[in-house]
Amino acid sequence: MTDAAWTRLAAAPQPTLQELFAAEPGRVKRLSLTEAGLHFDFAKTHLSEEALAAFLQLAEEAGLAAKREAMFAGGIVNPSEGRAAEHTAERGQGAPESVAHAQGLHLRMRALIDAIEAEAFGPVRHILHIGIGGSALGPHLLVDALGRDAGRYEAAIVSNVDGCALEAAIARFDPHATLIAIASKTFTTTETMLNAASALQWLEEAGVDDPYGRVIALTAAPDKAIDWGVDETRVLPFSESVGGRYSLWSSIGFPAALALGWDAFESLLEGAAAMDRHFRFAPLDKNAPVLAAFVDRYYANVRGAGTRAVFAYDERLRLLPSYLQQLEMESNGKSAGLDGTPVTRATAPIVWGGVGTDAQHAVFQLLHQGTHLVPVEFIAAIEAGDRLDPEHHRQLLLNAFAQGAALMAGRESEDPARFYPGDRPSTTILLDRLDPATLGALIAFCEHRTFANAALLGINPFDQFGVELGKEMARQLDDRSASDFDASTAALLARAFGDEIP
Ligand code: F6P
Repeated sequence: MTDAAWTRLAAAPQPTLQELFAAEPGRVKRLSLTEAGLHFDFAKTHLSEEALAAFLQLAEEAGLAAKREAMFAGGIVNPSEGRAAEHTAERGQGAPESVAHAQGLHLRMRALIDAIEAEAFGPVRHILHIGIGGSALGPHLLVDALGRDAGRYEAAIVSNVDGCALEAAIARFDPHATLIAIASKTFTTTETMLNAASALQWLEEAGVDDPYGRVIALTAAPDKAIDWGVDETRVLPFSESVGGRYSLWSSIGFPAALALGWDAFESLLEGAAAMDRHFRFAPLDKNAPVLAAFVDRYYANVRGAGTRAVFAYDERLRLLPSYLQQLEMESNGKSAGLDGTPVTRATAPIVWGGVGTDAQHAVFQLLHQGTHLVPVEFIAAIEAGDRLDPEHHRQLLLNAFAQGAALMAGRESEDPARFYPGDRPSTTILLDRLDPATLGALIAFCEHRTFANAALLGINPFDQFGVELGKEMARQLDDRSASDFDASTAALLARAFGDEIP
């Protein structure tokens, strides 16, 4: 029962940020921590000492530590699908047999990369990665963030079933120098299979010898990939107990490992492992993912905030908000508890965001003066990613810090249009630099924060049944097998495909 802690939380005084800072000279030190090349500052949130104590009670009542241990030990933490959640084993943290299994599969992936580098497939310059959701967002983030200067293989990640996406990618690539990676945990996803078939057709039409010989499958369903026509030697499997949105560490990360090089991929895993150890062993009040989850729950459940905004003050992390949308909203956008009873509290907020400083000139007006309370997260790196005049990076960081300060301070004015209420919360995550290790640690932090939120809420972050109904309806619409479409949908079918209006 977690009700006592929630009641305590709701009853805790709610001082303003300015009052919290004034009352507590050691606040910044108490609410900051540095781990795995990342510095976290939670001081500009409303996490008072009373609220923190109530959250620690909530964590105790919700069994957070036991759930965390069960996840690392390979327990069934995804009961609706009867599965463990073994993404940490991919980076060497977890049950020994799962770690050994993951390492074996990594060796297989590495051997294939070595073969490509040794030109066993002839000269290869491009990798066309086809997947969607968790089979695309992670690799895309990695390649976009870290692959800019790698100077190795050029990777394109195609996810959308809209043919414009594939068309744009293949227009840039030489079919004779391209390998196709089909990434799908289930190897059944409609969009991916259609894109894969069209990509294969592109190779065939270009006269490539043995087009199937240029296809690699990244999947937890190797048999299906083999049935589709991929040779067993080019199937890179991963474990069924690695969830799609937690899978970039597995063979799903193949385009990143190829584009960045194996050493970089290993550093990514090591950075994530450092965050795993922190999450697993640090006390809860000094634990970055846990503190972040406390802040998330405070705004969602105590203050009623419906959204959370993430702004990367780093162009290289421009895909991070999309990645986090799937991670947090697909994991925790639920209404049923682990025991099947309805959840009575708000679960995942709507996650959105963008890059600074662009977003300042687009959406920050609402953050400063709008009527919604939006907890904001700033993510930046101390070391510049560019080689231009250092003034670029100095301005970037100054702007990130200024926005957090302005949201908190606000400004008095007799003119209501020029009044800033202030007391608006933000968290800052400052990386020493953006490299494979710190990006690995950052993503692992986000995963564990999502898990900690789910544990506090008593929900399962590892299933995603909410995406099934729409997929089924698309199939029914395709073969017109359901006769009871609503009138609006029937009219749309008629307009687009010439169906008769019933
Ligand atoms: O539609 C949701 C989803 O199942 C995601 O969870 C998953 O990441 C994505 O589809 C792709 O699935 P697959 O990797 O099996 O193609």
